[in-house]
Amino acid sequence: MRSTIIIIAIIAIIGAMRSSAKCPQPTKHYTTLGCEPSDELSVEGCPRWFNCSTLAHRFRDKCYLYGKAYELHEHVPDGKVKSSCLALCTCQMNARRGVAEFHCAHIDCPEFLTPHRTGCVRQYRTNDCCASRQACGDKRSSLARCTVGGVSYYEGERMHFPDDPCLTCICTQHFNESDHPFSHTKCYTNECAFELIAPSVLTNGAAPVYYGDRCCPWEWRLQEFIFKKKVKWI
Ligand SMILES: *[C@@H]1O[C@H](CO)[C@@H](O)[C@H](O)[C@H]1NC(C)=O
Ligand SMILES: *[C@@H]1O[C@H](CO)[C@@H](O)[C@H](O)[C@H]1NC(C)=O
Repeated sequence: MRSTIIIIAIIAIIGAMRSSAKCPQPTKHYTTLGCEPSDELSVEGCPRWFNCSTLAHRFRDKCYLYGKAYELHEHVPDGKVKSSCLALCTCQMNARRGVAEFHCAHIDCPEFLTPHRTGCVRQYRTNDCCASRQACGDKRSSLARCTVGGVSYYEGERMHFPDDPCLTCICTQHFNESDHPFSHTKCYTNECAFELIAPSVLTNGAAPVYYGDRCCPWEWRLQEFIFKKKVKWI
């Protein structure tokens, strides 16, 4: 397990550069796993290290999500996974791999399948997977507007922040870009659901790969020598 931690550290450092006023290195996989950032910061504003010692004390018959342990057959509250478009997650033993993993249902939103309607804007609530409705025509025209990083949004739309890909805010009439995001009730931190979707990557010592400005690792890579032997059960 120690090698996993070291590999994660190395890849995070060579990971894709991101335009960010804050720490420019992608560190979301550490915080997702419940690693503790050091108080000491580098000149770039990144934690000098993450303490991932809890990873070394994990049990094969428990599931782990965002730093919390779940017993076999335990349910994850839907509120914790809904924003990742997952539901009904339970911890179950994967007999083939001999390790506990989450099993979840995927939420399919109507908007994944239907084309965008011109003159309409989808309306979202905080931490939801799917749009709750659409506002069209005059209803759209009467919505408040927000501006973030030069991009204009309608009230109810999800807004993305160039300097923080892990932040989402829903546009409201009270939104003001110059306020601290967390003074807005409709701002939230995006979660990365890799522990739910691909739990085996961690036990196998895979390293996260980030692309561009994304909040979450885009994929996980196994070291080549492991990859050749064990690729079948990724
Ligand atoms: C890491 O955290 C553990 C407790 O979670 C603590 O016992 C240990 O001293 C910490 N290590 C470092 C280097 O801070
Ligand atoms: C946003 O807040 C700043 C400073 O608090 C203020 O100067 C500005 O007028 C506000 N903008 C809007 C659109 O309310």
